[in-house]
Amino acid sequence: MSPYYGAGKIVGSLYSTIDEIMKFYSRKLIKPGDLNANNTLFGGQLLKWIDEEAGIYAMSKLGRGKVVTKYISEIDFVSSGRQGDIIEIGLEFSKIGRTSITFRCEVRNIVTKQTIIRIEKIVFVNLDEKERPAPHGKTREDIIRDARVF
Ligand SMILES: CC(C)(COP(=O)(O)OP(=O)(O)OC[C@H]1O[C@@H](n2cnc3c(N)ncnc32)[C@H](O)[C@@H]1OP(=O)(O)O)[C@@H](O)C(=O)NCCC(=O)NCCS
Repeated sequence: MSPYYGAGKIVGSLYSTIDEIMKFYSRKLIKPGDLNANNTLFGGQLLKWIDEEAGIYAMSKLGRGKVVTKYISEIDFVSSGRQGDIIEIGLEFSKIGRTSITFRCEVRNIVTKQTIIRIEKIVFVNLDEKERPAPHGKTREDIIRDARVF
């Protein structure tokens, strides 16, 4: 198993209580406009990409189009990226609540093979038409089962 994946995670139809493994769907090429004054990847740009990617993932998992970022836990910038590097954004479902869903995130540099960033918790909340938290109606089992589709 790839060292990027958490230990003890097993995938397969025989295991109904498994956690989802981290999925890397999205790749970005680091271009001049993505850099900071030090000529490495600007953290604000990286967080923008992560927030958008995680929002899409939350909408896919919940099957709903109106979700907002509620909380992002502490962020560990492990290494940097340079112009011309390609990064990929990984997300892993970790917790489901009544109105919320929580992911872990890891971004890695596929040129240097190093982890760029780790975020333990990104929480999205499902909203109703009045912008208030609304039950999404999903269970942990729903999310894990859908992991084979999304
Ligand atoms: C999202 C928002 C409607 C939630 O309102 P709220 O009054 O905090 O709602 P609640 O207290 O009912 O919490 C809603 C859910 O968020 C979770 N939550 C609230 N604060 C949290 C925190 N600090 N960390 C993790 N989860 C949190 C709650 O546990 C709850 O989840 P659950 O129903 O699955 O148990 C409101 O905070 C908001 O509009 N925030 C701005 C969101 C936004 O604009 N984001 C874009 C980036 S600026």
